[in-house]
Amino acid sequence: MTRYVLSFAGAGRVASALCQRFYEKDIKIDRIVSGKGKSADTLAGKCKATAGRELKFDQETDVIIVAVPDHLLQEVLNNIECPEETLVAHTAGSFGLEVFPERIKRSGVFYPLQTFTTGRNIAFDNIPLFIEASDPDAKHILDNLAGILGARVHFMDLDKRKLIHLAAVFTCNFTNHMFTIGKTMALKAGSDFNVLEPLIRETVEKALEYGPESSQTGPAIRNDQITLKRHLDLLSFSPEFQDIYRHITQSIIGFHKKSEK
Ligand SMILES: NC(=O)c1ccc[n+]([C@@H]2O[C@H](COP(=O)([O-])OP(=O)(O)OC[C@H]3O[C@@H](n4cnc5c(N)ncnc54)[C@H](OP(=O)(O)O)[C@@H]3O)[C@@H](O)[C@H]2O)c1
Repeated sequence: MTRYVLSFAGAGRVASALCQRFYEKDIKIDRIVSGKGKSADTLAGKCKATAGRELKFDQETDVIIVAVPDHLLQEVLNNIECPEETLVAHTAGSFGLEVFPERIKRSGVFYPLQTFTTGRNIAFDNIPLFIEASDPDAKHILDNLAGILGARVHFMDLDKRKLIHLAAVFTCNFTNHMFTIGKTMALKAGSDFNVLEPLIRETVEKALEYGPESSQTGPAIRNDQITLKRHLDLLSFSPEFQDIYRHITQSIIGFHKKSEK
């Protein structure tokens, strides 16, 4: 398999996870650039790369992976200086190739469908990795890189990938916020988050095994108006949580009514 030399723009959650996994797989990491420089220094120290703040890359680098916050992506891409033959790929789920300036001739998207947090060691095996590229050769390189990580490759254009990104927001980000609200209730009861652990595990396992629509339980799907009212009364300390409770309840009732028809 061809070996590539990689560089990174960004040294945060995604860049760290990718960079460390590539390094473990004997891929050479040349240069790591970050905004303030500190995160690049730390990451470069772990993978024998050089660190810096200037978005300048020479011909030593075959592929630059850009993993910066979405609102900075356009600006960072505009400021990258690299040889014409260098492939530049970003990791943002809801952006496509349109975000690259015209002078970057070889471009791609390398979007891992996973949630990354500093300090957590993510195994990439079988993680879905969504790839888009400017040309067949760039596609081949990104496919090879995904293979080195052990990820499961999906070739998908932006319109479809935006929907996958949205699905990730609902299933991961929103669910996690529900955990946070659940934790608030548990603490209010003088208990802690751990009391919910078996429930969380079974909820996820059941949804994966039977499908989420078949796994729905609770007062909303039973249309148990007495319990629903009691819960809203209990939530009188937070009009915000009451609102969330009403919306999700209506969504569950509406969704399951429709699917009964
Ligand atoms: N987090 C996830 O779970 C996840 C999953 C899939 C895809 N993504 C996508 O991956 C991308 C990166 O997300 P992230 O969560 O890894 O972000 P992050 O943890 O916030 O890290 C952002 C990195 O960008 C650097 N940066 C800021 N300005 C820069 C500049 N001008 N030049 C170079 N580097 C700069 C920051 O450096 P300083 O700290 O030094 O400023 C930091 O190292 C986003 O497009 C996101 O949508 C994220």
